[in-house]
Amino acid sequence: MEVLKIKGGRALRGAVHVSGAKNSAVALIPATLLAETPTTIENLPDISDVRIYRHLLEELGAHVTHEGPLMRVDTSDIANMPLPNGHVKQLRASYYLMGAMLGRFKEAVIGLPGGCNLGPRPIDQHIKGFEALGAQVTYEQGAVHLSADRLIGCRIYLDVVSVGATINIMLAAARAEGQTVIENAAKEPEIIDVATLLNAMGAKIKGAGTDVIRIYGTPRLTGCRHAIIPDRIEAGTYMIAAAATKGDVVIDNVIPKHLEPISAKLREMGVTVLEAEDSLRVTGVEEVESVDIKTLPYPGFPTDLQQPVTTLLIRGRGTSIVTDNIYSSRFKHVDELRRMGANIKVEGRSAVVEGVTELQGARVKATDLRAGAALVIAGLMAQGVTEITSVEHIDRGYEHLEAKLQALGAESWRELKED
Ligand code: EPU
Repeated sequence: MEVLKIKGGRALRGAVHVSGAKNSAVALIPATLLAETPTTIENLPDISDVRIYRHLLEELGAHVTHEGPLMRVDTSDIANMPLPNGHVKQLRASYYLMGAMLGRFKEAVIGLPGGCNLGPRPIDQHIKGFEALGAQVTYEQGAVHLSADRLIGCRIYLDVVSVGATINIMLAAARAEGQTVIENAAKEPEIIDVATLLNAMGAKIKGAGTDVIRIYGTPRLTGCRHAIIPDRIEAGTYMIAAAATKGDVVIDNVIPKHLEPISAKLREMGVTVLEAEDSLRVTGVEEVESVDIKTLPYPGFPTDLQQPVTTLLIRGRGTSIVTDNIYSSRFKHVDELRRMGANIKVEGRSAVVEGVTELQGARVKATDLRAGAALVIAGLMAQGVTEITSVEHIDRGYEHLEAKLQALGAESWRELKED
């Protein structure tokens, strides 16, 4: 078993380069299946979710070359293979294979996805979209079976604002007949990224980034070259870590507009955030102000930074209330933070954080990806050594985490331990 160790108490200083966005990458890779000629994706993060997706494409018969941040996918020999088990179960975002394969083959069998356990994560809105486009959907032995004689453009109103459903419907509709309109669509930057790739392949998608997206279906898409946007959640994690350690860090390769909800909240806490064209400088303060935070779909405060920011608020002067409106039980990090001396109570969908002066290193478990990020930040703040287990969750979404932290002056390393 591999553990991540952090010796806390050092202020982070220097510059960190942000990688390509995980949540774009895991949609762009399956989107390459829609093109009949090769597609190259640039700026891919080196994370395990990307490596798992590569295997999934290879299982379908795609020829994939993956070197550093570049991936070239040639789909000329792909076949409509059922994927009820195996790698699909290791990755929540394997659900994008449903939209992509439905678009390409009018048929797909995909095992119900795995991924972070954040409480109930239904995919009913994805299915509602596929059915509206004309697909028959059945469930057999833990897999979703989709098939359609024809996919025909239609109007779909999402009952819940969902990133995954918006992208999945876009993928299938890109090769449907006629016009599809998604109403109450999610507006996350990753959705614009996927629409940009599909448009470069020859699709006609308008309105991505607003709550009404129009997709004019095209029978054939061709490969293209596309560079992924920077990861706003990775960037936000380093912004929070800089503030939490009273450090001074330049976060490079970001789109500052995507980080406005985080910059705004850090400024409310008294932290200095300076914006340049494609970087942000975050300078911490001795004591942060306690603030209340509610997570919301973009452009609200992202749920994916709820856990890291809760850790920062442990340093607050008073009481902060952090409410997660997206996932009702994304609070598994709280028990671990308590082991380190935090004073946090979970009440319904909220964490009530009372400021404390000091955290102590402890042995804690990363129960999911962003819980892992929250514990890394706690480890950087704490006195002594923190040992984080289940690091595989962190490796799903953070490229070269210890190397980036070490470059900022942190003491962090991995050790192999007996289980
Ligand atoms: N929802 C439904 N029905 C659906 C789909 C979603 O009720 O059919 C609910 C969910 O249960 C949740 C809310 O709608 O309460 C929003 O879920 P959404 O579909 O937007 O989430 P997702 O697409 O499954 C993506 C990211 C998550 C991120 C959320 C919210 C990917 C691969 N994952 O998930 O990222 O938390 O959007 O922004 O893009 C992470 O990176 O750590 C992560 C979990």
